[in-house]
Amino acid sequence: MKALLLVDESQDKIAIREMEIPKPGANEALVQIKAAALNHRDQWCRIGMYPGIKYDTVLGSDGSGVVTLLGEGADAGWMNKEVIINPNIDWGPDEAAQHTAYHILGMPTNGTFAEYVVVNTDRLMEKPAHLGFTEAAALPLGGLTAYRAVFTKAKIEENQKVLITGIGGGVAQFAYQFTAATGAQVYVTSGSQNKIDQIINHGATGGFNYKNDNWAKEALKETGGFDAIIDSAGGESMNDYLKIIRPGGRLVHYGSTTGAPKKLDMFRLFWSQASIHGSTMGSDSEFVKMIEFVTSHSIVPIVDSVRGFDDIVSAFDDMHVGKQLGKLVITI
Ligand SMILES: NC(=O)c1ccc[n+]([C@@H]2O[C@H](COP(=O)([O-])OP(=O)(O)OC[C@H]3O[C@@H](n4cnc5c(N)ncnc54)[C@H](OP(=O)(O)O)[C@@H]3O)[C@@H](O)[C@H]2O)c1
Repeated sequence: MKALLLVDESQDKIAIREMEIPKPGANEALVQIKAAALNHRDQWCRIGMYPGIKYDTVLGSDGSGVVTLLGEGADAGWMNKEVIINPNIDWGPDEAAQHTAYHILGMPTNGTFAEYVVVNTDRLMEKPAHLGFTEAAALPLGGLTAYRAVFTKAKIEENQKVLITGIGGGVAQFAYQFTAATGAQVYVTSGSQNKIDQIINHGATGGFNYKNDNWAKEALKETGGFDAIIDSAGGESMNDYLKIIRPGGRLVHYGSTTGAPKKLDMFRLFWSQASIHGSTMGSDSEFVKMIEFVTSHSIVPIVDSVRGFDDIVSAFDDMHVGKQLGKLVITI
């Protein structure tokens, strides 16, 4: 089968190679991948900025496909089912945080950028009927991360004012869609006016360009501040967020693309009664709830582009420069 491996032998660090189709062990399923999607972790792995780099691993955490073979003891009901894959491995029993054994499909375990992947059957869920394979493949990692950030951490409810930063991002677009589905008023930031315009056409109330030095001032003037801000950039923007969060508001961070701020305005933090929450992926029960939410609200992931497997490296390159609005999907 064809697979995209993380390799330590080319300038690119990723290469399509031929390998044996894996065999499912006890309670495992072989899934023929129909579509897969990129997450920023794939690009972090490619540039060596993800912990525990293991070369010669198949990358890819998101995938949808069909079960074609089952290992010993696996429930025969999964055979030929159209599925999506929960990329969590060993979250553990604590809803508050993942176990130390926790890892994510697609490094160190072989992932979805291949014609076939083997996963335990407890990682499978039936593909939501309203989504095709390409849309379903966009959902797992980004949808799960957004679900926990929006509901468990930010506790978004109807009528709240919410800012989702970096709307071009895969997770951000789910955070936008989930927040909008609750009836909250959603504003976004982006480094691209074109992306802001597109998301306003999609239903967002407004947007601000984070490359403009005065964006936080403008946002405060236009909105009066936000009940919650959901962000993956971090960096110096943290102090802007503290200026525009309403008293008692929640800042939720699921990433730190621009690193840590040099200093944090501690006075604003405690005086505003704001709280800062870290959020990572989500538990297995949140994965189930996320799929139910997507199904009941008929949410269709925003897919930036769909390309064939032979063009997968170009999708990594697009993600590196942040060209996309929504998910970069690969058909396999
Ligand atoms: N903790 C977790 O479980 C978890 C899960 C998923 C992702 N993450 C992390 O979250 C981040 C985003 O992941 P992703 O897969 O959604 O990535 P992505 O699709 O590559 O999106 C990245 C987006 O970040 C935005 N951005 C860049 N600089 C920014 C800034 N200064 N202020 C605000 N936004 C900025 C850009 O938005 P515009 O294009 O609109 O400017 C860009 O499109 C990555 O750091 C990733 O590692 C963490």
